Amino acid sequence: MVSSRGAATLIHMQASDPSSGYLSDVTFPDRFHRELSPAWLNYASVVGGARPKVLERPFRYLDLGCGFAHSTVVNAAAFPHAEFHACDFNAAHIGAARRRAGQLGAGNVVFHEASFEALLEQDLPPFDFIVMHGIYSWVDAGVRGTVRKLISRRLADDGLVYLSYNCQPGWSAEAPLRKLMFELAQAADGGIEARIGTAIAGMQTLGNPSFRYFRDHPSVTEALAALAKDPVDYLAHEYLNGTWDIHYSVDVMDQMAEAGLSYVGSATLADNHPMLLMDRPAAEAIAAMPNGRLRHLAEDFAVNRRFRRDVFVRGVRSNPSQADALRHLEAMPIGCISEIERIDTRVTIPRGALSFQPEFIADLRALMAQGAMRIGDIVARLAGDGHNRREILQNLLFLVASGNLMPFAQAGGLVDTGGRGAASPAVVAALASHTGDETPTFVPCGTLGSGIAVSEDEAIRALRWMAGEEIERPARLARLGILRGA
Ligand SMILES: C[S@@+](CC[C@H](N)C(=O)[O-])C[C@H]1O[C@@H](n2cnc3c(N)ncnc32)[C@H](O)[C@@H]1O
Repeated sequence: MVSSRGAATLIHMQASDPSSGYLSDVTFPDRFHRELSPAWLNYASVVGGARPKVLERPFRYLDLGCGFAHSTVVNAAAFPHAEFHACDFNAAHIGAARRRAGQLGAGNVVFHEASFEALLEQDLPPFDFIVMHGIYSWVDAGVRGTVRKLISRRLADDGLVYLSYNCQPGWSAEAPLRKLMFELAQAADGGIEARIGTAIAGMQTLGNPSFRYFRDHPSVTEALAALAKDPVDYLAHEYLNGTWDIHYSVDVMDQMAEAGLSYVGSATLADNHPMLLMDRPAAEAIAAMPNGRLRHLAEDFAVNRRFRRDVFVRGVRSNPSQADALRHLEAMPIGCISEIERIDTRVTIPRGALSFQPEFIADLRALMAQGAMRIGDIVARLAGDGHNRREILQNLLFLVASGNLMPFAQAGGLVDTGGRGAASPAVVAALASHTGDETPTFVPCGTLGSGIAVSEDEAIRALRWMAGEEIERPARLARLGILRGA
């Protein structure tokens, strides 16, 4: 961490947590991550063969390195019967997260303004979910070890861990760019913003075909152009931390095995379906690998993966019987969070595009217009005329993997109660908190078990409708159970 460059080192040290070298005077962007929803993670693990969690019952959830804890606070408002904990050593992050929880009236979040090292010493209850988004590649080996100790001590017996990280081989061309940026920023004068500006300008000076690195890796020139447009707070955390490690998935799997965990699936849902990722020759070559570990690694090479969202479960994973796996999958609620017409006959998948029969999509739209349903119920309804159940199930999984449908926490939707109102005070607070710019507001939705992105226009229409104005009820929000009443 400590470089030998006098002034540059001093400024960098001032900007960092002294124990871990992590940047602490620049806040991270305030972003919502849908993959952190307990319902989403439950679905990802069940697709991988795990037993489903009963989300209607109380559970505990811990977000390590929560940043602004945007997702965790909204998720807490969506699951008022669960207990959420959010930990970060950056006081500005925890302060803003507390304010958001206060605004949404989410009293079920316990905030820990603490380092992971300090949290390890605290007396905490067992957690059903422990999540870390954007942590593992950005902290040093010591902190990663602490995180694993925390998991091994605090994860409940049938608990689930979500861990995202930068992985190889997808970073092989671009990794040197980060080193170049780090060194240029270290040598520059001024605050972080000025240093980043100088570093980008420096890279742009070098980023031309006279420099063989750029000539030999055209993708890096594109990456440089994209990076120059990224916001400063993101760049600071992504590129200017003393530590930035790129991992191989199998090494992370080994490290998690030491903490008593097994890999079960990916929260990047398409990654659970090799058919959506690669062609037949690649799939056959991977299938011919001598063991599961090598198949896991080879898949990263097949798709040149650079970021993983791994889901692990406690214990050695025993493969469920086919009947159990199917029963668990069929119990998963799924639904549509967009306008129903957006469930399309042609969807984008990592490998290209996938088409569905128009009649199938028409029938599915009619069902989804009623609200979320369990996969088994959708299959039963659509398989009526002797259609192939297995094919319908696969289509549904692919529609979820492509983002046309989404994992939900419960089946159901529209609640016509007569009066006009919101499902909860948190909904009203979230709708009223729209910022007046392009940024959507994430409104807690109990049926989804997550936040729904609501535009300013839709939020205003919902508030006006609730206030009794003679306007049409916002149909999407009503279908999602966010608005109640006819
Ligand atoms: C890249 S940000 C990710 C934030 C959030 N998870 C997200 O994705 O929006 C990493 C976060 O981890 C926190 N962090 C890093 N090292 C930490 C440590 N040793 N103890 C507690 N928090 C830490 C930082 O303050 C920062 O908020």
